[in-house]
Amino acid sequence: MLKDDLAKIIQQTVAKAFPEYGKEVVEIEYPSDSSHGDYSCNSALRLAKKVGKNPREVAQTIVDTLKKPDFVEKVEIAGPGFINFYVAKEYLVKNLKNINDKYGQNDTGQGKKIVIEYSSPNTNKPLHLGHARNNFLGMAVANLLEANGYEVETTQNVNDRGIHICKSMLAYEKWGNNATPESMDKKGDHFVGDYYVKYSQEAKKDELLEQETRVILKKWEEKDPEARALWKKMNGWVYDGFNETYDLIGSHFTFTTYESQFSEGGRSLVEEAHQKGIVEEIEGGALAIDLSDCNLGDSETGKKVLVRSDGTTIYVTQDIQLAVDRMKETKADGIIYVVGNEQDYHFKVLFQILKKFGHKWAEKLYHLSYAMVNLPSGKMKSREGTTVDLDNLIAELKSLVDKEVTDREMPYKDQEREDLIHAVALGALKYFILKIDPKSDMTYDPSASIDFQGNTGPYLQYTYARIQSILRKAPEGLDASIAATTFTEPEEIAILRKLQLFPEVIKSATKDYRIHGITNYLYDLAQETNSFYVKHKVLDDSSEEKSVARLQLIAAVAQVLKNGLGILGIEAVGRM
Ligand code: ARG
Repeated sequence: MLKDDLAKIIQQTVAKAFPEYGKEVVEIEYPSDSSHGDYSCNSALRLAKKVGKNPREVAQTIVDTLKKPDFVEKVEIAGPGFINFYVAKEYLVKNLKNINDKYGQNDTGQGKKIVIEYSSPNTNKPLHLGHARNNFLGMAVANLLEANGYEVETTQNVNDRGIHICKSMLAYEKWGNNATPESMDKKGDHFVGDYYVKYSQEAKKDELLEQETRVILKKWEEKDPEARALWKKMNGWVYDGFNETYDLIGSHFTFTTYESQFSEGGRSLVEEAHQKGIVEEIEGGALAIDLSDCNLGDSETGKKVLVRSDGTTIYVTQDIQLAVDRMKETKADGIIYVVGNEQDYHFKVLFQILKKFGHKWAEKLYHLSYAMVNLPSGKMKSREGTTVDLDNLIAELKSLVDKEVTDREMPYKDQEREDLIHAVALGALKYFILKIDPKSDMTYDPSASIDFQGNTGPYLQYTYARIQSILRKAPEGLDASIAATTFTEPEEIAILRKLQLFPEVIKSATKDYRIHGITNYLYDLAQETNSFYVKHKVLDDSSEEKSVARLQLIAAVAQVLKNGLGILGIEAVGRM
């Protein structure tokens, strides 16, 4: 990767020119205006004060000392003392040969394993739009890490027990009449979700229902066979439904855990920590950990209770067990938790406790926190039964895309048409969500997401398909070798420069799992390609050499789009 190579070279050059400052960090940036070159370095500005010279002089010394590598065509000192580098066209053209289905991958993560937890739904209702953000992020980060050479295991920790499930159970017992998803011809998760809604409606009229739910919960906790059987049956329906939705969106897990397995979880670990003096017994007999040093404990005592005086554990205690078990069983080097930002505090506490318990790997746990997804009409609520669930949302999107396919008089029929609609609808949804920084709240706008002209999945899919269609029409037997001198147009060079950056984008995206860095890149690449079409024809009647070169150029664009979309979990379709 040229960025890394250049950083090394500048480092050595600075060490030679200013030996006392040979260890200074070298930062290579991308100039925001591409007319300033491909890479820019601010070392001269950083060093100037220290060496007591003006930055441009320092820059000049660095440039004079520099042994210019072959891939650099031109070096320029700009503005107050930036050093700008222009990559040689020969290099960019040679790079076209590297662009295959592995292009973009690297081996930074070789030999390391990461577990990614995402989705982790509750079993009382279907997956909704928030889960879409969660799943798409989890899937994309998994792909991203694999592209960087990591071994990845994906997991979900299903919340399969608790008062919310008991509400569905109660409503089913009262009003279910032994119906089943089959008898009602309904997806299992929707079927169970309907009883949850029914409960909420009835509970408004009848206060006693709440107590009845508590009775069910108590029975469940006491392992009452009837309560357990109903619980198992209803959860089974929900899992069937979830699995269908997971298949629909392409989400798969290496392994699944269930919260019910962890009801007792963590207690013995906390007791052990008590023996070691990391945890203390407080008034009333509860076990607590002092978190006052990191300001995460109770506002008065600075402590966090981990085992209550009656011996029961809390959410974070169970998560301690889950993390310890996962690390032991998978022998992973780290865990990424894709969980909503309402649990920011929870994960800070969890990671701190694991650190205090002496687990070195606690440093390698990361909460990939994401914000709320709204629909234009407002927040999605489940209690009132007004949730926009993912299945219905996707069905709605498909009908929007279907209409688009008809309006555009696309000639596809039967299975091909169905596959196209599926790929575009999911591409639209995934891209629209992934292009936004997970930290920001967002509003999902279905019709904007399928706009073929915007910064959307379908736009990128269309750019890909259009290239495929040009390639299909290309005459056979064109001579395949190209010379760097064949590319003369600025639009061609712009594409070549962009293509060269893809591996760097994939590598740098891992830093804080910047999936939206990849969407931005792909959009820019598609824009450059479409600007090229505006001015030039791929098949140039006057020159076979040009035609060949341009066919290779757009084939490379298509490959990079496909590789990039692949990381986002979006299908590149051959015809659109
Ligand atoms: N089930 C939880 C929820 O729906 C998310 C679980 C997060 N994962 C964890 N290991 N705590 O909010």
